[in-house]
Amino acid sequence: MSAPSDSQQMEKIVSLCKRRGFIFQSSEIYGGLNGLWDYGPLGVELKRNLKNYWWRVMVHERDDVVGMDGSILMNRGVWKASGHEDTFTDPMVDCRSCKARLRADQIVEKKGANQCPVCGGKDLTEPRSFNLMFKTFVGATEDESSVTYLRPETAQAIFVQFKNVLDVSRKKLPFGIAQIGKAFRNEINPRNFTFRSREFEQMELEYFCRAEEGIKLLEYWKEERLKFYENIGISRDKLHVLTVPDEERAFYSKGTYDIEYDFPFGRQELEGVAYRTDYDLSQHQKASGKSLEYFDEETKQKFIPHVVEPSAGVDRTVLALICEAYSEDQAPDEKGKMETRIVLRFHPRIAPIKCGVFPLLKNNEQLVAKAKQIVDLLRPHLFVFYDEGGAIGRRYRRQDEIGTPFGITVDFETLGEKDSALCDTVTLRERDSMKQERVAIKDLANLLVAQIS
Ligand code: GAP
Repeated sequence: MSAPSDSQQMEKIVSLCKRRGFIFQSSEIYGGLNGLWDYGPLGVELKRNLKNYWWRVMVHERDDVVGMDGSILMNRGVWKASGHEDTFTDPMVDCRSCKARLRADQIVEKKGANQCPVCGGKDLTEPRSFNLMFKTFVGATEDESSVTYLRPETAQAIFVQFKNVLDVSRKKLPFGIAQIGKAFRNEINPRNFTFRSREFEQMELEYFCRAEEGIKLLEYWKEERLKFYENIGISRDKLHVLTVPDEERAFYSKGTYDIEYDFPFGRQELEGVAYRTDYDLSQHQKASGKSLEYFDEETKQKFIPHVVEPSAGVDRTVLALICEAYSEDQAPDEKGKMETRIVLRFHPRIAPIKCGVFPLLKNNEQLVAKAKQIVDLLRPHLFVFYDEGGAIGRRYRRQDEIGTPFGITVDFETLGEKDSALCDTVTLRERDSMKQERVAIKDLANLLVAQIS
C-alpha cells in the first residue's frame, strides 16, 4: 500500500476529527463561519489536558512563576500604547476579477506579472494595510469614545497588571506571569483547518528579568519549550527552531525563535519565543503615566525590567498532537483476517480518555457489575469510558481510533470461574502494541496513574 500524500493525510485527519467528535465547524447548521471552530467531547478533553500540563510545568512546578487571568476586553489605551492599533496589520490585496481578498504574500508572480492565486486574474489592487483586530463598542453608544477591540494576544493583560501582580506575589527578578486565554484576529485568509483561525487560545508566559539576563534566558526558554513538546509526545525530529532574521523581527526585539512543526501541509510555527526587551512595560508606563518600575532592594535602584516571552498556541498544538498521533497499521479482525487499523498514538498524558472498561459480554450480570465496580474504582483518578456494545475487538478499535491508551476487559477469569488464582484480575491491553497482560484489580489505579501523569 503506498503512503498517503500529505493532502490525503490531512483530509483523513479532518474527517476523523469530525466523525469522532474532536473538532466541528462553528455554527455548522448555518453554513459555518470561516476560521471558527468548535471542540467536541473528545477535542475539549485533549485541549484541557494540554492546557493543564502547560500550567503544571510552567506555573505549579516552579517557584518563579505565578498565573493570572485577564479580561478579553480592555481599555482602548492598552492597544494604542502597545502599538496594535496602528501597526497590527497585514497587507491586503483585492482581485477585481473574482473579488477575492488576499494577503499580499499569497499573490503569485508569473512571468514578471502579479496574479490572483484563485482565478489567475491580473487586475489586482495595490496592497493596503488591514488591521487584524476585531473592533467593538463598550456600553450603549456606538461612537469613537466607546471603541475597543477583542484582544489579539493575551500578553498585554500581563504587562498592564505587572505592578499589581508584583506587589501581591512579592517575587524577585527573574520571575514570570503566565496566562492561558482566548485571542482574536480577523485573519484575511484563515486556512489549514484550525491552524490559522480567527478565534484561538494562547498559552503565554512573560518572564521578567534584568537587561543583562535577557539573551541567556531566551536560550533557556527555547530549550524548556522544546522539552515541553517532547514531553507531550511530539517527536524531536519534527520540531525545528527558526532564528527569526533581524529584518523580520519586531524592532524592539533583541532575538526571536520560532518553534516550528512539520505539519502535513508544511513546516509551520507552533510557538514564538521572543526577547522583547523593556519595550512593552516602557510603552505602558509612558502612556498611562503610572510607574511600572521594579525596585531592586540590594542595589536600591529602580528600573523597568526586560522580558522574555514564550508564546504558544493551544489550537495549533492540539492540531500538531492530532497530526503526530494519526497512524494506520494492520491488525487482525475477529476472524484473524488482517484489516487496516486507525490509531491515534497520543501520549497517555494528553489522551482524551485514559482507559476503556469492557465487560466481555453485556448480557452477563456478573461481568457487567464487576466492570462497573472497576469504573467506580478508577474514576476518582482518571477519565475512563465504559463500553459494553459490540464484539470486544470492535470496542478496542473504537478506542484505538480516539487514542485511548489502555483497555481493561472483565472476563470469566475475573470472576474466578476458570482458575481461582485469576479471580479479581483483568486483562489490560496497551493500544500501540496491542499486548495484553493480566493485572490484579487492586493494582490498576496505581499502575495507570503512573503512566498518565
Ligand atoms: N504575544 C506574542 C504573540 O502573540 P504571535 O507569534 O503573534 O505572538 C503566538 O502568536 C502564537 O499564537 C503563535 O505561535 C500561534 O501558536 C498562535 N497563533 C497566532 N495567530 C494564530 C491564529 N490565527 N490561529 C491560531 N493560532 C494562532
